Amino acid sequence: MPVHVIVGAQWGDEGKGRAVDVLARHYDYVARYNGGANAGHTVYLGNDPIKLHHVPSGVISGIPGILGNGMVIDLEILINEIHTLRSKGITPLLHISDRAHLTLPFHKEEDVLIDSLKAKYGMRTGTTRRGIGPTYQDKAARVSLRVGDLLHSERLDEKLRLLGDYHQKIIMALGGTFKEEWRSSVLKEKLMKQLNEIKSYIIDTVDFLNKALENGSFILAEGANGVHLDIDHGIAPYTTSSNTIAGAASTGLGIAPSNITEVYGVMKAYTTRVGDGPMPTELKNEVGKRIQMAGNEFGTTTGRPRRCGWLDLVLIRHSHLLNRFTRLIITKLDVLGGIEEIKVCNAYLHEEKGIITHVPSTLEELKQCIPQYITFDGWEALKPQEWKEICEQGYETLPKELRKYVEYIAKQCQVPIAFLTLGTDRGATIYVDLPTEIYH
Ligand code: IMP
Repeated sequence: MPVHVIVGAQWGDEGKGRAVDVLARHYDYVARYNGGANAGHTVYLGNDPIKLHHVPSGVISGIPGILGNGMVIDLEILINEIHTLRSKGITPLLHISDRAHLTLPFHKEEDVLIDSLKAKYGMRTGTTRRGIGPTYQDKAARVSLRVGDLLHSERLDEKLRLLGDYHQKIIMALGGTFKEEWRSSVLKEKLMKQLNEIKSYIIDTVDFLNKALENGSFILAEGANGVHLDIDHGIAPYTTSSNTIAGAASTGLGIAPSNITEVYGVMKAYTTRVGDGPMPTELKNEVGKRIQMAGNEFGTTTGRPRRCGWLDLVLIRHSHLLNRFTRLIITKLDVLGGIEEIKVCNAYLHEEKGIITHVPSTLEELKQCIPQYITFDGWEALKPQEWKEICEQGYETLPKELRKYVEYIAKQCQVPIAFLTLGTDRGATIYVDLPTEIYH
């Protein structure tokens, strides 16, 4: 039975939480397969925004959420999320993989120390400081702590002592201070308290998900971060530390690739990026500022302002190449309302190679690229309620300039569009059924 994957086609923050909120009710489970507390989804309960970092967005609609084996979990943050949801009257239905890895306090310290060292050499990533890289480093070095280890106290003491010893050496070598509270005995006490809060959620999610598939369940796999932050496919060192692309749903959940029958690509109507790294269509001007304010483009996890720019279709088509999207979801089209002329980058002009239509693999090459734009007439700025009313009446009632923009994207990417979002309210969603000629 099918697994459908949903991924962000840009640099994260594409509105995946909003898209999952629309889709979740069609599925039996929503499962996260990568990343950890670096991700941030804002979902709305009426007008009430709820920020989630680990918990899949579908839990708001009562759909059980799975935290898959590919995730790195910060228990302190996860438990806060669970408490927040309970305080809003939602009892989250969760299953946490016993194979997922734990982010511990010294990972966060190291994250900062490593990025500061990189900064000295002009190679800062600008991480979320949530300890993501160091946790995945431990996984690769095979010194990590998995969720399931908490259930086996006989080996836990040794593992925590090894981790303490290992990280003390690293932190001191990087010029930091290893805190007393990170020593194994103190840390164990804290972890045991946290375990009490989540014990009932811990299971072998690989076995669970595969049985669910055999029994005909539908699973939505929710990718975190964004395709161009993928550790293999993003531009180094400006990536996260996990694979973010749809293929990672297979390893990060323990389900065979042949189960994946649909891949949704979520893209924002413009481009944003948080942290360092190249962004060819960035607007360092009034228009960029306007998009930032209208789109409330401030990081859910860190509060940092997001860099804003025109839509970059080279980026999206490259994402399509890596993920083979079967459907696109375009979010935040309302944010561009009121801008007289809207530009879209559809190719790069490379100093030596001429016009190129893919993202080069190195920073040096990308720096030689100049975005090539085509210009669209803008559409009017409307109030949230006005967009919602238009959405109720259907696609044909959208401003014709906006439809032209959407249809250009569909044609350029040759991927059918599932739906558009024009506001944070669930009602501000339009399902699109464009004629097939559009895509050819
Ligand atoms: P890390 O994942 O915290 O190591 O951060 C690596 C890079 O990915 C930084 O530039 C972050 O700003 C960026 N990043 C990580 N997760 C997200 C996300 O969910 N949305 C947007 N940017 C992210």
